[in-house]
Amino acid sequence: MDARQMKIEAARAALEHVEHGMHLGIGTGSTAEEFVRLLAEKVADGLAVKGVPTSERTARLCVELGVPLFSLDELPELDLTVDGADEIDHELRLIKGGGGALLREKIVAAASTRMVVIADRTKLVDVLGAFPLPIEVNPFGLTATRIAVEKAAARLGLGGDIALRATDGEAFETDGGHHILDASFGRIPDAEALSAALHAIPGVVEHGLFITMAQVAIIAGNGGIEELRRQGNE
Ligand code: 5RP
Repeated sequence: MDARQMKIEAARAALEHVEHGMHLGIGTGSTAEEFVRLLAEKVADGLAVKGVPTSERTARLCVELGVPLFSLDELPELDLTVDGADEIDHELRLIKGGGGALLREKIVAAASTRMVVIADRTKLVDVLGAFPLPIEVNPFGLTATRIAVEKAAARLGLGGDIALRATDGEAFETDGGHHILDASFGRIPDAEALSAALHAIPGVVEHGLFITMAQVAIIAGNGGIEELRRQGNE
């Protein structure tokens, strides 16, 4: 199975969690897009769901494929969010934000009763941090915020490059008009401590550590589908 097929299989397995009438958070990224494509087929066959997209990119695909969309203000309490991830550990802690949608993804996941993460097996790790941690920051005082992030990380024994994400030589802008710092810490042994430290920095809007948010991770590999469940959930 190639990487695309694994994403499709994970997305297909996530559809099993979707029930008629659900209010759904719909994630961002290439894996989430496979879910949107399969969901759209079910909608065309009569499945009634109401979706809340986690990015403008996802919203465009849903509109194109006929998945009914609402804003989070119209549907502030969701049954289920299905989304991808950049890394998943065995406690179902996640790094998200590789696609730049981490803030809306986290707001939507937090408004959901359940979150199911879908990924190919390369995303499953023992310790988070090989994937650079996306940190969404306000453009105002960017340099001061970056220094504050470096110092907070250093207090936790973390170092490494902290790079401003750019596309075509321009600072990447999120759907919320913020920028992203990608922090290459290498290993994040204490994700909870780092999360708290980053939240204490005023210029940090949000970070890509999703802790105690996902209940289920659907991992697709050459051996098939594996469903991991967080201890204390389901
Ligand atoms: C976007 C995300 C994505 O879910 C994450 O980057 C995974 O993307 P992909 O499925 O393309 O590997 O967090 O902000």
